Amino acid sequence: MSEYVIDDREMPRFRVNRKAMIAPEVLAEERDLIFDHSWLFVGHETELRKPNDFRTRRVAGRPVIFARDSAGAVRVWINSCPHRGAMLCREPAGNGRFMTCMYHGWSFNNAGRLVSVPDDASYGPGFDRPGLASPAKVDSYRGFVFLSFDPDIVDLPTYLADAKEYLDLVADQSLSGMEVLPGAHEYSVKANWKLLVENSYDGYHATSAHQRYLEMVLAARGAIDPKALGDSRGVDLGNGHGVVAGGPSTGLLFGRPLSPEAEVERDGRLARFREAYGDAWVDRMTGGRNLVIFPNLVVIDLVMGVIIRKIDPVTPDYMEVTAWQLVPPDESADLRRQRLDNFLTFWGPGGLATPDDVEALETCQKSFASARELPWSDISRGMNKPVVSANDELQMRTWWRRWNELMTGEKLPPENHDPIDGVFAGRRTASQMEPTA
Ligand code: FES
Ligand SMILES: [Fe+2]
Repeated sequence: MSEYVIDDREMPRFRVNRKAMIAPEVLAEERDLIFDHSWLFVGHETELRKPNDFRTRRVAGRPVIFARDSAGAVRVWINSCPHRGAMLCREPAGNGRFMTCMYHGWSFNNAGRLVSVPDDASYGPGFDRPGLASPAKVDSYRGFVFLSFDPDIVDLPTYLADAKEYLDLVADQSLSGMEVLPGAHEYSVKANWKLLVENSYDGYHATSAHQRYLEMVLAARGAIDPKALGDSRGVDLGNGHGVVAGGPSTGLLFGRPLSPEAEVERDGRLARFREAYGDAWVDRMTGGRNLVIFPNLVVIDLVMGVIIRKIDPVTPDYMEVTAWQLVPPDESADLRRQRLDNFLTFWGPGGLATPDDVEALETCQKSFASARELPWSDISRGMNKPVVSANDELQMRTWWRRWNELMTGEKLPPENHDPIDGVFAGRRTASQMEPTA
């Protein structure tokens, strides 16, 4: 049995050892065994609109250049000069065909080729001119670009398993393709990165931790009939991925109310989606979903706003978070304004929900100083239920089983629950099955 996870199906009981949240050697092993053997989110294709656009960011601690080359292909380069290591590109974003190293002036084109070396003759004619290094694999799904540092990893569609369908539900929210808006929320939390993974699809904490936000929504909208919130599901999507999904229209109940004009526009959009994709798919679409793609990509889609969140461990008790907003480009300024308002007031680092989560996570981390006296956290909720809801913890256990497998080699079987049915299983109509991007 692993030292990190107790998975007792008889009792039933699922526990995670808090050592996983505090030990420096655990983070070192996570870098080797998890981040070096997963597909990791780099960015969205629409962040690179034109040929020669580039952005720099960190993926699994490595500085990378996320770029569109002159021919229009998306590329990812390691942001380190092959000469003696200086960071090649030091701008957060820009547009350019060449990158020239500030140290000794070597210059590379955006297809990765070394094109100019000052005082070239000193190297002699036989010199093997090194190009830029790239990660072992780069691929994309519906505009989401991933890399892997593992040359032997399964292909991206296989890795994403059933999570693909939930990315489709998000990507289908514009008939002309969703796009990432310029700008991002960047913030840090003094807590272990895995606590935010758990929190990102934890339905159970909403009414207690986010009481003030919910009061604000109720004050703006009038009372919401709890029955209108309908049903929800927690789903194991395979390979450590998981989701909590709301029933039809649940997603439309969040955020401040739309103006009457915006409501008409939104209903018109949904009617067009019904024509394009069929009712079953659009009913699911309006339910909203919190999706975690193992290990550190979160997509939260409350229909009134969609965020892409990337969670990066820095030290065992400190993480950095980046959040982008994914929007339909074909909506009016009015709908866009409401969407941006939600992005700020709900998800923003100074908004009405994220500070609650940050506070909760930071107090967890502080209390883990007593991990010797209280070593285990409990994640058992819903283990014995035939039908798992968003307020249960199946999705977290799924994640932790994959984590445990990569860290220790111990493979724990998935849980047995009733198959997903009803609206939660509705499919896109056959004529529209091909992704648009
Ligand atoms: S380190 Fe880049 S040119 Fe020398
Ligand atoms: Fe929260």
